[in-house]
Amino acid sequence: MDHDSPSPVRASYDAWAATYDADRNRTRDLDGEVTRKILGGLRFRTVVEVGCGTGKNTSFLTGRADRVLGLDFSPRMLGIARGKVRGPWREGRIHFAVADATVGWPCRDAAADLVTCNLVLEHVAELAPVFAEAHRALAPGGRLFVSELHPHRQALGTKARFERAGATTEIDAFFHPAAAFLEAAEAAGLSLERRDDWWHAEDDGKPPRLVSFLFRR
Ligand SMILES: C[S@@+](CC[C@H](N)C(=O)[O-])C[C@H]1O[C@@H](n2cnc3c(N)ncnc32)[C@H](O)[C@@H]1O
Repeated sequence: MDHDSPSPVRASYDAWAATYDADRNRTRDLDGEVTRKILGGLRFRTVVEVGCGTGKNTSFLTGRADRVLGLDFSPRMLGIARGKVRGPWREGRIHFAVADATVGWPCRDAAADLVTCNLVLEHVAELAPVFAEAHRALAPGGRLFVSELHPHRQALGTKARFERAGATTEIDAFFHPAAAFLEAAEAAGLSLERRDDWWHAEDDGKPPRLVSFLFRR
């Protein structure tokens, strides 16, 4: 990726990294619950976690997999993730790399039996390159898990945002209706196993907060 022309999204996550885990964030917390619910009963050899951020889900994934590769284009978010890894890191079971989800990922073809992408795709203008890379990275039968801010919430104006010194930064986001995820997956050669809508315990009476998809190559 081109480090000479930083993406505003990357710059925002670099700025957010230090407080991302501690800030009140129901979307982040719900995503953690959903990921454990959907993937908790499964076991994997190699996981590619795209946009792993501060590693909120990485420690869970290391408990379900032999190897995890965490990719993110924010060096500061990755720095927090690296700092959390203890034993497995020393055993060489977890690797992190600075990488843009929309260009070629630093992994071999058919290397993974799970690709997971959590709360990332709202920041990506075009879904097709990400789904194409997921298909390339997955072995036949491997799964792609996507968990995203729900389009119904996006339509109401919800965006990833954080506060710093009394100022709110809203991070650039793109609207993808649920059908866009399904179309991108189908075009990439992935078939839908399940789709779910999710509410946080405090979301009573509101539209769903997250949508998740489990696809299979
Ligand atoms: C809301 S955070 C989610 C982090 C983690 N997946 C989680 O669930 O907590 C979004 C992450 O996606 C990363 N990201 C956004 N666009 C990206 C891109 N094009 N390539 C790689 N990472 C990206 C950001 O740097 C950030 O770490």
